[in-house]
Amino acid sequence: MYKIATIGGDGIGPEIIAEGKKVLDAAGEIFNFDIEWVDFDIGAKRYLSTGNLLTEEDLSELSKFKAIYFGAIGDERVKPGILEKGILLTIRFYFDQYVNLRPIKLLKGVETPLANKGPKDIDFVVVRENTEDFYIGIGSRFKKNQKTELTVERELYSIKFGLDINSDADEIAYQIGVISREGAQRIFIYAFDLAQRRKRKLTSVDKANVLSDIYGLWREIFTETAKVYPNVTTEFNYVDAITMWFVKNPEWFDVVVTPNMFGDIITDLGAMIQGGLGLAPGGNINPKGTSMFEPIHGSAPKYKGLGVANPIATIWAGSLLLDHIGEHEAASAVLGAIERSIQNSIITKDMGGSANTARAGSYIAKNIRRS
Ligand code: IPM
Ligand code: MG
Repeated sequence: MYKIATIGGDGIGPEIIAEGKKVLDAAGEIFNFDIEWVDFDIGAKRYLSTGNLLTEEDLSELSKFKAIYFGAIGDERVKPGILEKGILLTIRFYFDQYVNLRPIKLLKGVETPLANKGPKDIDFVVVRENTEDFYIGIGSRFKKNQKTELTVERELYSIKFGLDINSDADEIAYQIGVISREGAQRIFIYAFDLAQRRKRKLTSVDKANVLSDIYGLWREIFTETAKVYPNVTTEFNYVDAITMWFVKNPEWFDVVVTPNMFGDIITDLGAMIQGGLGLAPGGNINPKGTSMFEPIHGSAPKYKGLGVANPIATIWAGSLLLDHIGEHEAASAVLGAIERSIQNSIITKDMGGSANTARAGSYIAKNIRRS
């Protein structure tokens, strides 16, 4: 028996989470476990009516779970950044979900925009550091003759540097990125351990040739950590170059470890080469705490309620969730069922099919029961 928290969120979020639950419940029937779902009402609707993004109570309740199944947040009525930072990023930081795990895998039957590449060429994992870098939320804007107040946007987890920048410029803005030794070490250890269980190749992404302080430290700690894993082949890629190699030679990669912001950027590219955002899942993992699993796409408000959303990214995120809680067989059965449904063309419009969201989800669930 597992207890799992769900946050459907905004837009298409609740619809795709409903399909995810259906499939994970089916996996439970076959692999002998039960899931008790505990739904949380968090998102734009509640924010607009109460002003609450995440309350202390939400966080303390969520902290009782090992896993959160998350749909999407984002709503046209709310200024960009409010919900993203106030909900999604706050959960990632508050629960110290320092690993953002994003498999880039072309499933059988899925079309990739890359010419002459198939499922055997596109099968790697991006391990994105998820709590540091330019995402820490320290920055400010100010105008001439107005003294700067350090903007500490997320008091729950921010670090104070006591900066007091003043400038004679007309108007400036700054944002600070931070890599800590501990933060880099723990993500590298996770990535090396993962590479050891896969094809034993680890690529580290940085921009140490220009942002040499922050990514110089990143590179130094990567090199040190590599000494502990002599059986893993390592290499460095600059972030600009890796976008080129993802397109030209995706088969080179096994595990890719990246700082937070570059990871955000390159995983959208990764999503495209594996068939599109509708197929890209992610896990926000704290190996010893509360983790969260989500599709990497957003809430697509204009498709809300139309039944056209592709549930696969969310269902695949559910597979990552099962893997995380130790249900490894069920996790691969879910992925297998997704793949078979695609091969049988029970897919949504974005993939060239005609199934609606619920039909696509139900078919995957049925497929698990049959396997
Ligand atoms: C992602 C998203 C988020 C990020 C946004 C919505 C805050 O783009 O999960 O990749 O930047 O991490
Ligand atoms: Mg992103």
